Amino acid sequence: MFEGKKILLGITGSIAAYKSAFLVRQLVKAGADVRVIMTPAATDFISKLTLSTLSKNKVHVDLFDEDSWVNHVLLGRWADVMLIAPLSCNTLAKMAHGQCDNLLLAVYLSATCPVVLAPAMDEDMWHHPSTKENIKKLISFENKIIPVDTGELASGLIGDGRMAEPDKIIRFIDDNFFTHKSLSGKKAFVSAGPTYEPLDPVRFIGNHSSGKMGVAIAEELYGRGAEVTLIMGPSSINLPANGIKSIRVNTADEMYNACTKEFDRSDIGVMAAAVADYTPVEVAANKIKKTNKELVIELKRTKDILKSLGEKKSAEQVLVGFALETNNERDNALGKLKSKNVDMVVMNSLNEAGAGFGTDTNKISIFDKSGKEFEFELMSKKEVAKNIVDTLIQLYYA
Ligand code: CTP
Repeated sequence: MFEGKKILLGITGSIAAYKSAFLVRQLVKAGADVRVIMTPAATDFISKLTLSTLSKNKVHVDLFDEDSWVNHVLLGRWADVMLIAPLSCNTLAKMAHGQCDNLLLAVYLSATCPVVLAPAMDEDMWHHPSTKENIKKLISFENKIIPVDTGELASGLIGDGRMAEPDKIIRFIDDNFFTHKSLSGKKAFVSAGPTYEPLDPVRFIGNHSSGKMGVAIAEELYGRGAEVTLIMGPSSINLPANGIKSIRVNTADEMYNACTKEFDRSDIGVMAAAVADYTPVEVAANKIKKTNKELVIELKRTKDILKSLGEKKSAEQVLVGFALETNNERDNALGKLKSKNVDMVVMNSLNEAGAGFGTDTNKISIFDKSGKEFEFELMSKKEVAKNIVDTLIQLYYA
């Protein structure tokens, strides 16, 4: 992913510095050449030895290293990207005002490469007007800010201010600097998650879909430069916080309306949602009371969204469907490819360990319009999404 890329990681004095070890490890594993500089305060939180061992490079803290001067200008020029993670409130303020009282600040001020910042601080500090002003200034210097996460903070309070997780930081760098934007100028929609069909005001018919696969595809398409709308059924997973537009729906009918509208303005449509095939004929106005008799609920068919999009698809539009199967996987997937007139079917089988609903992994095969199969190993849903989008680009946008 990062083969041959040079990343200069600046670490400042924040408890989140413990995550820097994971960050360095993941960057190195992804193929990057990583050099680390720390503020003196950062060394109270994590040791130079840990970071030099993981990065396989000497770690710099001071402007003078034993008897020699550390060339901050060359460090700043060496890097493809300078990442400061965690960025404390103090260093953030100094950067906004051009102060230069340590090596990290000297490198920052002389860096000619793009600079990415992952702030970490307590919620009140994060929301303080002076921090907001400083962030605005850094954005005006064209530094990129990775949004803070919400959760438990060092103070024990719950709120905004946690440093983004290493995975997210790496993804951000990849999306912003290293991924080829092959889908720039294209519009895409992705449907994700389950649908809930109400029986009465308190009950519904649903399914176990988490929406993770669809979200990962939406993020991947966005990372390749597409303008993306995510149409999300009722799922508790976090919606992407970047520039992806989200539309929330509940029922299959609401999903049909949203997808139909979005497809009209899209170049690419991906139906990853687990849409209910049946919905109750009647929705009781009040809670259905139990009796001593059996309860029979009459169901009617919902609209097949993918099929209806396939029928109206233009020659320029690319439509991707999913086939979740438990038996006769290939035949069923190929059947859906033809009957729904889609350009690509992503097949996953509930018989494969680690594949399907709720898991963080998936094992897929992709069939193109001619029925040619592309088979993949079991991997994370993020990696699966990357393969789906790579295949889509290779088949239709190369
Ligand atoms: N799909 C859809 N609308 C529906 C049902 C499914 O758009 N009412 C889409 C799904 O999003 C998926 C594809 O159709 O992209 C296949 O869904 P799947 O549940 O595997 O198959 P079904 O078409 O529902 O057929 P069956 O349940 O018989 O396998």
